[in-house]
Amino acid sequence: MNRAGDVDGARRRSGRIGDGDGSERPIIEIRGVTKRFAAGDPAVDSVDLEIPEGELFALLGPSGCGKTTLLRMLAGFETPTSGEIRLDGSDVAGVPPNRRPVNMVFQSYAVFPHMSVFDNVAYGLKVTGVPTPERRARVLEALGLVRLDGLEARRPDQLSGGQRQRVALARALVKRPRVLLLDEPLSALDAKLREAMRIELVNLQDTIGITFIFVTHDQDEALSMADRIAVMEHGRVRQVADPATLYEYPSCRFVADFIGKMNLFEATVRACRAGELELDVPGLGALRIPHGEPAHGNIGIAVRPEKIRLNESRPDAPFAFEATVEDFAYYGSETHLYLVTAEGMRFAATIRNTARSPARIERGTRRFVSWTPSDTLVLAE
Ligand SMILES: Nc1ncnc2c1ncn2[C@@H]1O[C@H](COP(=O)(O)OP(=O)(O)O)[C@@H](O)[C@H]1O
Ligand SMILES: [Mg+2]
Repeated sequence: MNRAGDVDGARRRSGRIGDGDGSERPIIEIRGVTKRFAAGDPAVDSVDLEIPEGELFALLGPSGCGKTTLLRMLAGFETPTSGEIRLDGSDVAGVPPNRRPVNMVFQSYAVFPHMSVFDNVAYGLKVTGVPTPERRARVLEALGLVRLDGLEARRPDQLSGGQRQRVALARALVKRPRVLLLDEPLSALDAKLREAMRIELVNLQDTIGITFIFVTHDQDEALSMADRIAVMEHGRVRQVADPATLYEYPSCRFVADFIGKMNLFEATVRACRAGELELDVPGLGALRIPHGEPAHGNIGIAVRPEKIRLNESRPDAPFAFEATVEDFAYYGSETHLYLVTAEGMRFAATIRNTARSPARIERGTRRFVSWTPSDTLVLAE
């Protein structure tokens, strides 16, 4: 399902997002947008984003970082304090929500409990005066898209959580927006359903081809669904990239730590030569790592748990640290290990259980921790 480099992802990108001539205008342009509710830190702070048509774009960040506020400004429910939002090339300042080419599915996907599924979906068309025959055709089409055919007569309380979610989606899609905004669309569903709905949402977006922008605080959701992700912290966008770039090349300590699990150490650059950094890492000692760009002063270095190798004896590697297993968690397909060195340096390591009876690991097991030096991330910020 992770489409970072798969055939399907490649097809999606080459098929719809630009053809390389660079002439396509992004459907959404956000320029220097700030939203300040009261004195103090702004909820959204100087955000710049461009989102091309047909993209499945995620806004990811911890609770309170400004995701919903940014989405509500796109929808027209909030006004930016400063900055400009352009939808399909036009500045939308002063344009009310119902006149924008966007539609929003709210976090608590409100459906009318006393109305049938059909009437729930038809409601938005009714109030804008779409004539009955067209209304009926469009409602049935929207229900087909979300696979609720045949359930038109049901009331929301006769539906499962996942089906109610799809009613909310159909209500937004029936208006045929150019952009669908989804605020934590899966957060109300239980874990199994959430996973199934991830795939459904991605397939739905693929089918109808419109731009989806969805908000989530769940990194797995963002990584597995999005074409590109903007990671937010305190109202600011810290990095915008495709899932694999974000995971393998985070731009700063915050993104490195927020996305997935990470071993993060503070280090000082001792020397910076052609293609190599000589580092002093308190607790680990002198480390030499390949690095293309110049770096100096205090930096962070990081390595993902699954890049860590564990050996019973000292490996023939540029560096290795003897450590003891302090804790572990067995997940069937993989085991997460937490190790500590005599100096108190901690490592998280993930091992894949590719053999049916792997080497026994328990608390107190000693291992040498190492990794390929080029797997070390250098984080200046
Ligand atoms: N209507 C509002 N009035 C005052 N403060 C608000 C309002 N809406 C959001 N905020 C504040 O703005 C910040 C960002 O909120 P929000 O956009 O809801 O974050 P997220 O969706 O990322 O959890 C929070 O500190 C929140 O308390
Ligand atoms: Mg929110």
